[in-house]
Amino acid sequence: MKEIRPINVLYIASEAAPLIKVGGLGDVAGSLPKALKNLMPNQLSGHELDIRLVIPFHTMINQKLDNIQLVSSFFVKQGNIDIPARVFQTNIEGVPVYLIEGGSILSDLNVYSSNPDYDAKKYIFFSIAALELVKKINWQVDIIHANDWHTALVVYDLKNRRETDSFFKKTKSVLSMHNIPYMGAGSENIIHEFGLPKCPCTVLPDWARSIPLPIGMYAADYLLTVSPNYAKEILTPDYGCGLQDFLNARKSSLAGILNGLDETKWDPDTDSALHYNYTKQQLDIREKNKLALQTEFGLEKNVNIPLFIIITRMDQQKGVDIAISALRMVADYPWQAILLGTGDPVIESACRSLEVEMPTKVRTILRFDLNLSRRMYAGGDVLLIPSRYEPCGLTQMIAMRYGCVPLARSTGGLKDTIIDEPAGILNNGFLFIDPIPEAMSQALLRALSQFDNKEPWQSLQINGMNSDFSWEKSAVEYAKIYLKLFKGEK
Ligand code: GLC
Repeated sequence: MKEIRPINVLYIASEAAPLIKVGGLGDVAGSLPKALKNLMPNQLSGHELDIRLVIPFHTMINQKLDNIQLVSSFFVKQGNIDIPARVFQTNIEGVPVYLIEGGSILSDLNVYSSNPDYDAKKYIFFSIAALELVKKINWQVDIIHANDWHTALVVYDLKNRRETDSFFKKTKSVLSMHNIPYMGAGSENIIHEFGLPKCPCTVLPDWARSIPLPIGMYAADYLLTVSPNYAKEILTPDYGCGLQDFLNARKSSLAGILNGLDETKWDPDTDSALHYNYTKQQLDIREKNKLALQTEFGLEKNVNIPLFIIITRMDQQKGVDIAISALRMVADYPWQAILLGTGDPVIESACRSLEVEMPTKVRTILRFDLNLSRRMYAGGDVLLIPSRYEPCGLTQMIAMRYGCVPLARSTGGLKDTIIDEPAGILNNGFLFIDPIPEAMSQALLRALSQFDNKEPWQSLQINGMNSDFSWEKSAVEYAKIYLKLFKGEK
């Protein structure tokens, strides 16, 4: 009988929790490989999955890790310079993790900088080094799974090397796109310096042929987005960022798989950041968390006043400005709001102004505070998510798990996870379609009127808490794609 060998997958990302996390990508890279590793062979046609993660050895990780081993060192060419790379190994909950050090990774202060040139040097070096690594350690990788623009060029490098280097002949690639507008523009010269040839694809618009994400889209054997709906949206001019025609041409190799939630890390029954833990059978205990929040922020202590919360990165994408205007439109109704986040100073100051304008209703907390966000999910009634686009979104899933009802723009992954149908018995939130304050204020009014009816409100909460956002379900979908590529069916 033919031996069934493991499928070897290298998962490559710029960040991965808990080692380093700046955004949603860090959550995904920290939890998806683990979920894939935990799949049973019968979910993979009898194969085991040997999945390993590779991320840059960012200075911030370097400062906190001691249990590491050097596994390889080599050089990466940038023009006439040979840049030394060293690779260390550790693991995250059973998943082997390679940490690549060298070039500007050695001196980086943040995962991402505001200087495109600096980031291009760092991530292109990293991408090329990651591919070199598998060869140096002689690990016959079947699938390289890259994420976003930072690592998109690894699949391009692979495509080129596949033609000349027998080691990579059978290696396939997947590129996951978490946020298409971030393409890595500004990397043109650096791509050239690292010796990567000009992208020959004529279906890509000319401007895109020297930008990492589109080049990766061309080179990858399979393209993924982080929700099924976003995969459809990017085929349209509103979301495709000028690449919609190209993406339409690649439609047969494009799919969307919803991100999961690490349900062990987000559980109101065990979350140690909460004042009072609770399950879906104990929504009355949840009210104590709301009172604690109102006390903490000097708002009127009253469980009957609906408490809106916003927990977000403050940038254009997230539409906080839409929420601010919509809240003004419903100012005559009783409600309270707590806004938490950091980002664009203009948006931050608009949030501050709302607090100044409505001192009995609004609190603005301009910082990144994970523990406070957990207390807010556990005590807030409605999480506002007015995103202009949202490839997947994690906060709506966390909110639902904590019995906080999401009210969101119907887009991307928000549309895939939130159910809001006329008289729908499975409803778990509120959606509005147009990204404008008028539409959002209508949804706010619906939420405010429903909040007064305890039973229907509780069924929204329970439906949310019953939703299955586990990684396992999504991991099975990823495994199907890996298997297809492995068997050469794609
Ligand atoms: C990006 C997207 C977000 C998604 C996350 C993880 O941050 O903006 O919608 O949830 O990536 O995939």
